[in-house]
Amino acid sequence: MIISLLNQKGGVGKTTLAINLADAFAARKQRVLLIDADPQGSALAWSAIRTVEPKFPVVGIPKASLHKDLPAMAGDYDMVIIDGPPRSNEIARSAILAADFVLIPAQPSPVDIWATDDTVRLVVEAQTYRESLRAAFVINRRITNTAIGRDVRAAFADQPFPVLPQSIGQRVGFAESFALGLSVLEAAPNSSAAAEVRVLAQAIQDQLRRKSK
Ligand SMILES: Nc1ncnc2c1ncn2[C@@H]1O[C@H](COP(=O)(O)OP(=O)(O)O)[C@@H](O)[C@H]1O
Ligand SMILES: [Mg+2]
Repeated sequence: MIISLLNQKGGVGKTTLAINLADAFAARKQRVLLIDADPQGSALAWSAIRTVEPKFPVVGIPKASLHKDLPAMAGDYDMVIIDGPPRSNEIARSAILAADFVLIPAQPSPVDIWATDDTVRLVVEAQTYRESLRAAFVINRRITNTAIGRDVRAAFADQPFPVLPQSIGQRVGFAESFALGLSVLEAAPNSSAAAEVRVLAQAIQDQLRRKSK
């Protein structure tokens, strides 16, 4: 199963969720491969900071040939997570071609939802010739007890993809664990951040399992 995290906007949580979901799937006994498709190499940098043993390999393929290069490597893994580039360019297109499922992290504000337009268009375009390609939004950095946190789902109503019911809150633990080369599951296993990541991973896996039947 290949999941691409994409959003042309930078700073929405692609890398954060890619790393943490990869670790959550590894904790669920999946053989995981994390592909860093961002020329900035943030996921690779994270793995380089790490001092404890890796639970999954991180490979940099920031190239438009990603969808051609990946099949030869993906066979050894249950779950391949692609951390996508900012901007909807040829690499993003390639990450969509490679994927079974595109996950679009978006922060809960109308401006951020509008900013996914190009990414959404690329996925819709890809779906016209590959019906099995699925996509969903995941709300990241939800701020609880604010109107914008509560009403955000309505703002996605016109979008062609569903919003996953499991969202990720605004939690400082994501930045703190990243700086240590750890996931939130490793750095703070009892935190709310870790709990949310586990629930999200479980939900994605359930959904993919259902789709592949
Ligand atoms: N749920 C969250 N809570 C708090 N900070 C977050 C959250 N998600 C991402 N961040 C922070 O936002 C910044 C950008 O996230 P990143 O994953 O690098 O985005 P992208 O890969 O889309 O550019 C990082 O500093 C990261 O730690
Ligand atoms: Mg990134």
